[in-house]
Amino acid sequence: MTEKAEVKLSDGTTIELPVVVGSEGERALDISKLRAESGLITIDSGYGNTGSCSSAITFIDGEKGILRYRGIPIEELAEKSTFVETSYLLINGTLPSQTELTNFQKEITRHTMLYEHVKSFYDGFPRDAHPMAILASVVCSLSSFYQDEVGNPEETSYLNSIRLMAKLPTIAAWAYKKSVGQPFMYPDNSLNYCENFLQMMFGLPVEKYEIDPVLVEALDTLLIIHADHEQNCSTSTVRLVRSSLSNMFATIASGICALWGHRHGGANQSVIEMLQQIHQDGGNVKKYVAMAKDKESGFRLMGFGHRVYKNFDPRAKIIKKKCDALLSKLNLEDPLLDIAQELEEAALNDDYFKEKRLYPNVDFYSGIIYKAMGIPVNAFTVMFALGRLPGWIAHAKEYTEDPSNRIGRPRQVYTGPQEQVYVPINQR
Ligand code: CMC
Repeated sequence: MTEKAEVKLSDGTTIELPVVVGSEGERALDISKLRAESGLITIDSGYGNTGSCSSAITFIDGEKGILRYRGIPIEELAEKSTFVETSYLLINGTLPSQTELTNFQKEITRHTMLYEHVKSFYDGFPRDAHPMAILASVVCSLSSFYQDEVGNPEETSYLNSIRLMAKLPTIAAWAYKKSVGQPFMYPDNSLNYCENFLQMMFGLPVEKYEIDPVLVEALDTLLIIHADHEQNCSTSTVRLVRSSLSNMFATIASGICALWGHRHGGANQSVIEMLQQIHQDGGNVKKYVAMAKDKESGFRLMGFGHRVYKNFDPRAKIIKKKCDALLSKLNLEDPLLDIAQELEEAALNDDYFKEKRLYPNVDFYSGIIYKAMGIPVNAFTVMFALGRLPGWIAHAKEYTEDPSNRIGRPRQVYTGPQEQVYVPINQR
């Protein structure tokens, strides 16, 4: 028998709300008939308590610091899988057989080039354009080249998803090449996903680029741990935009735009800028911890806090380990790593951060790794987007294939003026 909850209203009526239970025991009140039965809606600023959908892709337990893609713990995937295999898992629901993986890799490889005309779009951007602006614009522009979803957008376009997986590294690398005034490097289909991206970023037509396997491995891990995170801001945006039956390119471009902000994916850029500022300021960590506690300052410790994780972010643990290993393998020292560690220690021992349960999140250490790889600071969020792409695709696909899907259309509580007359301009 379905469990029900009762809501008693002041007029004496009682409304029954079914309790929906997820596969990991999560319980939710189904309020879908609440308005029809009572005239009431719910209000939940920032959607902190609102389940916008049922989803079988990713499970998070924020209290226990658990993150699983399709049931597999992130720690196992980060250690044993590859980004391409993890993408297959997220998009298709199961780990691939060897043949399925080979075919998936081949399909992606076949689509890595961009239409030659796309190159000329880059000429129109200013040299100092933020690479996220270029990424979102060029991704959206792909819908003008691949119009097969226009007219039948309700059908999931698997091919367009493959195109996106294949082309996003090329678009991203070209955005970087534009910013440094170097010639664009074409994809090299003899290389794997991460190797190909690194050669397009750092290769030059005039000399052979030696791909460092240490960087390839670190990049692969970073992409895996960013690959999905259930109903975060950009993924919810993707589902919402897809719900109007927008095509896949417009849908993913909207996810890129939502990711850009510094409360979300843009935090990785803000973290490094903050660490640089602290470094230039003589490394006075205590001053910045004090500022973060002072609401008047408007300053927050970037890379700290999370809506869901309240004990630790499992991705931050993996990244921190990777970061130490990468810097020692590359024989690099980065004073920002020392500052980051000092800052983490100071915050974790501070009552404000303890009480509010604010811990380092995925973005806290990722920038130090990107920096060690030679990725420019303003391209850090682009790296996040490369990683998050299979998650966005998986959610758009899951949404599209759900026979009960409807357009996303939240309600509101109106707080503006009541009806008033229009006053002509000469009488105001
Ligand atoms: N530094 C100082 N105080 C903080 C911080 C921080 N980084 N984060 C939250 N707080 C305080 C906040 O002021 C509030 O205090 P009070 O209850 O006294 O008003 C309390 O903690 C709860 O914060 P909130 O803003 O209501 O929490 P939220 O769940 O709405 O926001 C967040 C989550 C991640 C946007 C926020 O913690 C934040 O702004 N962090 C810094 C930006 C960041 O690192 N973002 C990356 C998130 S992880 C990757 C991703 O999602 O892309």
